[in-house]
Amino acid sequence: MKHTIGVAGLAVMGENLVLNMASKGFSVAVYNRTYEKTERFLSGRAEGKEITGFQEIKDFVQSLESPRKILMMLKAGNPVDQFIEQLLPHLEKGDIVIDGGNSNYHDTIRRQNYLEEKGLRFIGTGVSGGEEGALKGPSIMPGGSLEAWPFIEPVFTAAAAKVEDGSSCCAWMGPGGAGHFVKMVHNGIEYGDMQLICEAYHFMKVILQMSPDEIHSVFVRWNEGELSSYLIEITADITAYLDTDGNPLVDKILDAAGQKGTGKWTVNAALDFGVPLSLISESVFGRCLSSFKDLRVAASEQIQGKVSAFEGNKEEILKDLGSALYGAKIISYTQGFGLLQAASEELGWDLNYADIARIWRGGCIIRSVFLDRIADAYTKDMKLANMLLDPYFNTTVTGAQASLRRVIVAAVMAGVPMPCHSAGINYLDGLRTAYLPANLLQAQRDYFGAHMYERIDKARGEWFHTNWTGTGGDTTSTAYSK
Ligand code: 6PG
Repeated sequence: MKHTIGVAGLAVMGENLVLNMASKGFSVAVYNRTYEKTERFLSGRAEGKEITGFQEIKDFVQSLESPRKILMMLKAGNPVDQFIEQLLPHLEKGDIVIDGGNSNYHDTIRRQNYLEEKGLRFIGTGVSGGEEGALKGPSIMPGGSLEAWPFIEPVFTAAAAKVEDGSSCCAWMGPGGAGHFVKMVHNGIEYGDMQLICEAYHFMKVILQMSPDEIHSVFVRWNEGELSSYLIEITADITAYLDTDGNPLVDKILDAAGQKGTGKWTVNAALDFGVPLSLISESVFGRCLSSFKDLRVAASEQIQGKVSAFEGNKEEILKDLGSALYGAKIISYTQGFGLLQAASEELGWDLNYADIARIWRGGCIIRSVFLDRIADAYTKDMKLANMLLDPYFNTTVTGAQASLRRVIVAAVMAGVPMPCHSAGINYLDGLRTAYLPANLLQAQRDYFGAHMYERIDKARGEWFHTNWTGTGGDTTSTAYSK
């Protein structure tokens, strides 16, 4: 009997996905670069299950039913290209290669073109949920060769997380790199959510001088309301976790954040597509700044800052903090979906934003009740120009605005950084300001570079140049409207 699907790469995500698919009744062939790892898996967690291991790639590939479906769960980058080269001699036309790692969407587009030239099909899929999600049901975001999708759909739909209404957290995203792009933006949003939560924690710990127990209770409470989400839930757990000496473990963890790069890619993409993604960008830079631990320690001793203690009403500001966090979160997702929209329009992906919000409701790291609201907004209006123009988000952000301002003012006066919350209010104020000082900026560009400007008393698209100094002349440069 041939196997339904082959999985290459038995690191934690690979192993857990294999066990997940086997538990849904699919027979799985597995391959790992080092065979000892395969043997350990077969005699350990895979024992007694519909899972067969292979030492040679050829045997692994030949054990699969046609068209063959091979899911690579490898480290992103070169290992994926190298493994594709190793697979190629054993594949037949129509076979399907799937990349389930955190690959860069540019690589996915290149790999799809490369394999399709050879008569093969390629799917680049985002898989989110960490090791537990992979085992129990992740959120799955596939894209690439559409003709391959019907062959993969039954396996992925069964393996993905299910939400309360029974729907599966997996949907076809679009052609080319759409799946990996959506996963990348998911990770960018994840960075933003995490930094926002850390800022709220910092506020409680340093400005309000709250005890670990008090902070824990706030996260527990927040998880019962509109902020309810996996990341708030694990934060509540983390803040209650005690080290062997009975003190909170979190307080002993070095404050220098790591990152594998998907947040940085999201910010790069935002720059490429010309989309303001300030909140998520600040979350990436926040991690960078945190990693300069020694420099910060030295600077903390040398640079004086005016720090005043909080003197307002603690209960009131705590209420504000929850609303501020929710408001900033809405703004972050607005920016993230703005990036999805820009990429979809420019690359012709036709992304379905309601589906994206729906498949993020379960299994993935950013899962939350709030994603239902986004799905509703885009179901009502697929062409919504900006999420904040949806009536629910408009009303909620308008309501949260005063809290966001009060929290930021308190933080600024106390000398405690809240870069993501601040980026949030600045974006909101920029968006809701009909007039911005870019008139002056355009004048400056025209002054030193003859880049020309449009006038408010003339039609858009009509360009003017002024010889500001009398010595610049009439020759103009290009207008660059984007
Ligand atoms: C997920 C996570 C996952 C992973 C990231 C985190 O959706 O399951 O996002 O992809 O945890 O690699 O990346 P950083 O190391 O950059 O925080």
